[in-house]
Amino acid sequence: MAEIILQLTDVTKSFTLGADEVQIIKGVSFKINRGDFVIIFGPSGCGKSTVLNMTLGLEPPSTGLINFLGKDFYASDDDGRAQIRKKEVGMVYQQSNWVKALNVLENVYFPLTLRGVAPAEREKRAWEMLKLVDMEKGGYQLPSELSSGQQQRISLARALITDPTLIVADEPTGNLDSKASEEIMNLFKQFHQSGKTVVMVTHDLEYLRYATRSINISDGLVLAEYSANDDRLSKMSVSKRGNLPDAIKKLT
Ligand SMILES: Nc1ncnc2c1ncn2[C@@H]1O[C@H](COP(=O)(O)OP(=O)(O)OP(=O)(O)O)[C@@H](O)[C@H]1O
Ligand SMILES: [Mg+2]
Repeated sequence: MAEIILQLTDVTKSFTLGADEVQIIKGVSFKINRGDFVIIFGPSGCGKSTVLNMTLGLEPPSTGLINFLGKDFYASDDDGRAQIRKKEVGMVYQQSNWVKALNVLENVYFPLTLRGVAPAEREKRAWEMLKLVDMEKGGYQLPSELSSGQQQRISLARALITDPTLIVADEPTGNLDSKASEEIMNLFKQFHQSGKTVVMVTHDLEYLRYATRSINISDGLVLAEYSANDDRLSKMSVSKRGNLPDAIKKLT
C-alpha cells in the first residue's frame, strides 16, 4: 500500500467579506500518496490556491481535517506547522521571491543557512542543485538579472535543496512563455521520476499529461479525479486553453 502523505477530509473554508460569510471551499476530500505527481486544476477563482494554502498549514480550514504525514496538521500551532513545513516541503510559486541582496547561489542555499548548515556544505549542495536545473553559470549573478524562466529554474533548485518529502507548486509556469514552461514542467517530471512527490496547481490543461493523477476543482468542490491514462484527460488536454468550463461540461 502506498504511503499517504497528505489527506484532506471534508475540508471547507469560508471567508468573511464585509458583512457576509462566503464559503469558498465547500467540502473537499483527496489523498496524496508518496510518489504521486498530482495536478490540481480548475478555473480562476475556484479555490485552488486556498486549498493549497490549507494543505501547507498556512490557512486553517473552517471545518474538516487535514492530515500531513499521518498527523492532524492543525493540532500543531503556527510555529509547529512552520517547522514541519520547513523540514518536509519545498515550495515554488508563480513569482519567485528572492532575498534581493543575495546572489543566486546564496539564495539557493538560504534554506540551509536558516537551518544552520555549515558554509562549505551549503555551497556544495547549492552548486549541485544549480547543476540539476542547468543554471550553474548563473551562480554569481543576481536573480533579478535573469529571465523569468531562469529564475523559476532557480526557485526549483531552492525548493529542492532541503531534500523535501513534498514539492508544492502554485502556478509555477504562470509567468512563462510556452518554451520556458515546458522546460520547467520537464524538470518537475525529472524530480518526480527520481522519487519525489509533487503537488502542482495550474489552470493550464496542457500540463495534465505530466501528472499521475489530476484533481479538477470547480466552484469549491472536487468535480472529478483522473488517473494518468484516463481517456477523458487526453481529450481534455487538447482542448483550447482558457476554455476550461466548457471542456469540463462536455467531458464530465
Ligand atoms: N483571504 C481571503 N479573504 C477573502 N477572500 C479570499 C481570500 N483568499 C481567497 N479568497 C477568495 O476565494 C476565492 C478563491 O481564491 P483562490 O485564490 O483560491 O482561487 P484560485 O483558484 O487559486 O484562482 P487563480 O487561478 O486565479 O489563482 C476567490 O474568490 C478569492 O477572492
Ligand atoms: Mg491561485
